[in-house]
Amino acid sequence: MSTAKKEYKRITVKSLVEMKKNGDKISMLTAYDYSMAKIVDAAQIDVILVGDSASNVMAGHETTLPITLDQMIYHASSVIRAVNRALVVVDLPFGSYQSDPKKALRSAIRIMKESGAHAVKVEGGSEIKKSVKRILNAGIPVMGHLGLTPQSIYKFGTYTVRAKKEDEAEKLIKDAKMLEKLGCFGIVLEKIPAQLTKTVSESLSIPTIGIGGGKYADGQVLVIHDLLGMTHEFNPRFLRRYMNLYEEMGTAISQYVTDVKNTDFPSDEEQY
Ligand code: KIV
Repeated sequence: MSTAKKEYKRITVKSLVEMKKNGDKISMLTAYDYSMAKIVDAAQIDVILVGDSASNVMAGHETTLPITLDQMIYHASSVIRAVNRALVVVDLPFGSYQSDPKKALRSAIRIMKESGAHAVKVEGGSEIKKSVKRILNAGIPVMGHLGLTPQSIYKFGTYTVRAKKEDEAEKLIKDAKMLEKLGCFGIVLEKIPAQLTKTVSESLSIPTIGIGGGKYADGQVLVIHDLLGMTHEFNPRFLRRYMNLYEEMGTAISQYVTDVKNTDFPSDEEQY
């Protein structure tokens, strides 16, 4: 039997479901700007998430709540201009979809029309059923997000692991099945026990993407600033840092400052 993985020229929501069926893991990372998205896309990532984590890592807010729809559209259109292969999914920000299905549809349409994105992501289960349905009915692909949902941080009170208790785990399983039935093409599972991820993943035909959800998810997602070690104060157990860019960039910038101060930069060769 051949073990060769199928090559995808362009990732679509259908490719992701196909990958799950074939047992191919899905890679997903965040990006919020043109230059970063170009690098991430060229590295053959499957999905780029324009996450509302932009509120934290790009704008310096403590939570994801303050970022606006206009700001998400700005980030998403910068990413779209860079991408040739990846599927680009954009978070609907807090307040743009929870209260009213009509508003949810208007927000999703604005993202699709004004940024050129391929899909939207929303946080929550049964509470947002009508909004999800409305967006899907308009032909817009929707990704769900269950477990730790950062837009509800003030309800949870902490960023600790979710659904450890049976009642919360049962609701999560029910919500995941509901999202699949409605027509969502995938679900992010954030910070839940690995065994619960396994149960959910095995009971769905659409892919699950874990962040702190363990190895049984059908794919994994991380915030790019965390993976590259640009953030250094955030150290959850699930995070693997592939670089220490905070230090490396700091060293390079200090060297530049020294060179300018010592008139070592620019050299004769670096001028006209
Ligand atoms: O906003 C984001 O970056 C996310 C990921 C944590 C999944 O939703």
